[in-house]
Amino acid sequence: ETLPRPELFYFHGVGMTKYFTENWENTQNFKARPDDILIATYPKAGTTWVSYILDLLHFGQTHPERLKSVPLHDRVPFLEIYIPNWLSGTDQADHLPTSPRLIKTHLPVQFVPKSFWEQNCKVVYVARNAKDNAVSYFHFGRMNNAQPEPGDWNTFLQNFMDGKMVFGPWYDHVNNWWKKKQTYSNIHYMFYEDLIEDPGKEIDRLCSFVGCSPSAGEKKKVLEGTSFDKMKENKMTNYTTVPVMDHAVSPFMRKGKVGDWKTHFTVAQSEHFNEDYKQKMKDSTLQFHTEV
Ligand code: PPS
Repeated sequence: ETLPRPELFYFHGVGMTKYFTENWENTQNFKARPDDILIATYPKAGTTWVSYILDLLHFGQTHPERLKSVPLHDRVPFLEIYIPNWLSGTDQADHLPTSPRLIKTHLPVQFVPKSFWEQNCKVVYVARNAKDNAVSYFHFGRMNNAQPEPGDWNTFLQNFMDGKMVFGPWYDHVNNWWKKKQTYSNIHYMFYEDLIEDPGKEIDRLCSFVGCSPSAGEKKKVLEGTSFDKMKENKMTNYTTVPVMDHAVSPFMRKGKVGDWKTHFTVAQSEHFNEDYKQKMKDSTLQFHTEV
């Protein structure tokens, strides 16, 4: 299926494409329910991983049939997406047969539909270190026809630093969600790097946040099922069911590592990036667990 590559344009000051703005009214007027769980991320920070962990924790035992027949992106709708001739994310969320609803979003915090706040919904935010996040986003742009043309790595990296990205600058995204935590306590802010380092511990923390108490056996199943290798070979989680993606260019489940930026950044790019990063993050109390 060929889809014309969308152009990036500025929407309320934030980089967007038409696939995320054409259903704007329905998105803004979306009616959240008190038990909805919103999974919010900057693109490529670990959305799919955390979505699958939460999906298995909630429905692995009660709806095992879905695990083999319903792709994860249909079990965890992407709120703001609208691709012509498909369901919109808001419709998908409205028609989910299970509850609580797990809903994915990449929206910067200021664009989140207000009903999520009014209903005091639980929000899981996942952040990933800027350099790996940029590398992953670059390859995603190459393989996904629903993303703007990424250009070569150097061009992409400069655009990343300039915030010319779909869903806006990484810097604003992670920082504004971090600040939101100070006034809205129902946010669990977690890091991709922690998940890599100790997934068992991060799953325990997620469980206490969302109120799940899996048995030791169930937890083991979640841990095994959500490993990179298992998710990569699982058609329901590896995005091979999505027609706009070309996994021959770069697989969605690409590497799943911390520090892959080292195979992409030149020394000069890294130094330039670090200097700029320091400036952009100077007022932030947010600490990433890897060097930048
Ligand atoms: S998206 O399109 O925004 O929903 O993408 P997202 O899921 O946020 O990010 C994709 C990256 O996460 C990696 N990934 C994982 N890493 C480790 N373990 C598991 N289970 C896992 N699942 C997904 C995926 O490989 C992408 O990172 P890169 O660095 O490109 O490999």
